[in-house]
Amino acid sequence: MFAASAGYAQTAFGDAAAGKAAFAACASCHQVGASARNAFGPQLNGLMGRRAGAVADYNYSVGMRQSQVIWSEQTLTAFIKRPDQVVPGNKMRFSGWGYDEKKLANLFAYLRTFPPNPVAN
Ligand code: HEC
Repeated sequence: MFAASAGYAQTAFGDAAAGKAAFAACASCHQVGASARNAFGPQLNGLMGRRAGAVADYNYSVGMRQSQVIWSEQTLTAFIKRPDQVVPGNKMRFSGWGYDEKKLANLFAYLRTFPPNPVAN
């Protein structure tokens, strides 16, 4: 029991620096940071706690816009693994990332460093 919870704690906290490298897989379609714009995909600032399909000036699929999903570690993990099971009818075409929990934890740590409206400094 104790060993199992210690293992969980390790995967729950990712490494944001490593997550930046992991985000390279997303960066062809998504931007983060003070200069982030909607590209092929919506900008992902302030993603954790954001409702799916909520960026005002991005042209989402109907499925994404009508989704009630709130983005969190749990919903993002499921979405990255199987987009269509979490948001039916979405238009994100992304696969081939496997099931690497460590990489996902790092990615989420990185995404958490971007508040909803980051200011350039
Ligand atoms: C080939 C382009 C592409 C890649 C690569 C890609 N995405 Fe997407 N993503 C999209 C598109 C297009 C949408 C909009 C989907 C829709 O409207 O149905 C989207 C939507 C999303 C959303 C929903 C955003 C919102 O505002 O609700 C999240 C979260 C997301 N992507 C995360 C990721 C992450 C994390 C990665 C990397 C692991 C990634 N995506 C890689 C194209 C991509």
